Amino acid sequence: MCGIFGYIGNQKRAAAIVFEGLKTLEYRGYDSWGIAVKAGNRIEIEKRVGKIGQAKVSLPQSNLGIGHTRWATHGGVTVKNAHPHRDCSGNIALLHNGIIENYESIKSELLAKGHTFLSETDTEVAVHLIEENMKNGNTFPEAVRRAFLRFSGLNAIVVMNSNSNQIIAAKNGSPLVVGKSDSGFFLASDASGIVKFTKEIIFLKDDEMVILDDSVNLFTVSTGKNLPLSYEHVDWIIEEADRGKYPHFMIKEIFDQPKVIRNIAETYADQIDDLAEVIKVAKGTFFIGAGTAFHASLAGVYLFSKIAKEHINTAMASEFNYLEDFLTKQSLIIALSQSGETIDIVEPLTRAKQKGSSVVAIVNSLGSTIYRMADKKLLLGAGPEKAVASTKAYVAKLAVLLMLSFAMVRKTSDAQKLLLEAAGEIRRLLSDENLEKLRRLAKELKGNENIFTVGRGTSYATALEAALKIKEVSYIHTEGLAGGELKHGTIALIEKGTPCFVFAPMDETHEAILSNAMEIKARGGKIVGISPQKAEVFDHFIEVKDVGEASVITQIIPAQLLAYFLAVEKDLDPDKPRNLAKSVTVK
Ligand code: AGP
Ligand code: GLU
Repeated sequence: MCGIFGYIGNQKRAAAIVFEGLKTLEYRGYDSWGIAVKAGNRIEIEKRVGKIGQAKVSLPQSNLGIGHTRWATHGGVTVKNAHPHRDCSGNIALLHNGIIENYESIKSELLAKGHTFLSETDTEVAVHLIEENMKNGNTFPEAVRRAFLRFSGLNAIVVMNSNSNQIIAAKNGSPLVVGKSDSGFFLASDASGIVKFTKEIIFLKDDEMVILDDSVNLFTVSTGKNLPLSYEHVDWIIEEADRGKYPHFMIKEIFDQPKVIRNIAETYADQIDDLAEVIKVAKGTFFIGAGTAFHASLAGVYLFSKIAKEHINTAMASEFNYLEDFLTKQSLIIALSQSGETIDIVEPLTRAKQKGSSVVAIVNSLGSTIYRMADKKLLLGAGPEKAVASTKAYVAKLAVLLMLSFAMVRKTSDAQKLLLEAAGEIRRLLSDENLEKLRRLAKELKGNENIFTVGRGTSYATALEAALKIKEVSYIHTEGLAGGELKHGTIALIEKGTPCFVFAPMDETHEAILSNAMEIKARGGKIVGISPQKAEVFDHFIEVKDVGEASVITQIIPAQLLAYFLAVEKDLDPDKPRNLAKSVTVK
């Protein structure tokens, strides 16, 4: 979501460099894009709706350019709303990541002063406010600084001016990094966009502003004071993802899962044992995550209760802000994230750190914002996950949480054995025969408007995750529920033939969930049972062999596959579902 890239240096091909930079940031997800370059004393801009693809950009030669991939929050997906935006004079161009939460009041003020707005975005107030500040006698950098100070919300802005050879950027919440090389300076919304060009990087902190010209100058936004530069040498190799023989990344990543779990089982014991010690001394541990990562957090809470007999709290990261009043210096927040860039997690982590609580990151992306914020870090090692729908990062999180809950009672090796069994069972679930069976089921279900998924205990988390997977790639409305909750309302929606997935592992939930399945069937529902054991109530039976507590990992596999086949059967692109982004960097 929203990629930012900028270049200033001795190369005359700024547009091409920025274009290339934006392509490396495409994975974040976007709906439109644009590039601005400085040509003499003019700014030239090209903006488009849709994917960058093989687009030809016909901007003039320049040594200074900025570019943006937008994920619309305020205003439709149109060329006018795409960034960069200009001020009234056309001399200033600006791009932005985030939401200027107080844009309405700033806009009325600027309208009253005669500014003309061309877009529906919140962003455009920023460029006019800078123009206004300059009219009032401020230098370009001071005008940017003063404008940025007025914005509420989590934002990053990048600005250029036709009358100066500078790129100015400021950030609060949204990530920004600066890189230097022999050919000049780069600016990007995350380091993965820059490492291709240079390994010498400054990670901007919140309330920092940078001016790039023939050198780099860093300031604190709130005080305007100059700051020393501290470059870090990053030696990451950003793994390129390749679909190989698979038609889509989603199915390729589903197939990667046995390897990912085996790797965690075989190589993570030491770091997991260490982390268990940190949890033992904390007074109050919270797992937070968004979307799929929240479902992993929820499964973790059940696993900790059952295996470690330890109470862990969980909340969706976006709700955690409203639950953190009781955090203390002894609290421990464990953030789960694939991208490590999700702003809904960054924000509560920032507040937790301000309160002196400890932060642990369990993330898949090395060097990401959340990874860097954490006092203690654990990488998932799932390899690059490209499909928007998260699969292998989910099972990796489950594998880590399972091992962690066993590590709490010094039984890490039991978890390792279960994980190896789970990896074997996933391999079996990926057999041609099984795939064919699920493809047939997808054909049968693709015309449905509603699907329900139910489970209890850890399988409640599975039900939520299965529903999310199906809805995000097939666009079929799917609701995940705790088995016992149906009769409290949602059962009113069950009609003849309504498909309902029932997760029934051989644990303490088995009998109760089969009773819930009976209740659904009595109202005409069609039951798809996912279980080690066939039951009379199932209209369709998908066998997932019992692997003890690791069944929380194996039983999601048929749901991932079904979601994938539903998308393919409906001629949808499972890798790039509509309206979604891989890296969710706005609130
Ligand atoms: C799930 O398939 C994703 N589309 C989404 O819910 C994702 O899990 C969520 O946005 C959190 O992302 P993160 O793991 O990168 O923080
Ligand atoms: N809020 C801005 C817009 O809708 C920026 C969105 C983004 O971060 O891409 O244009």
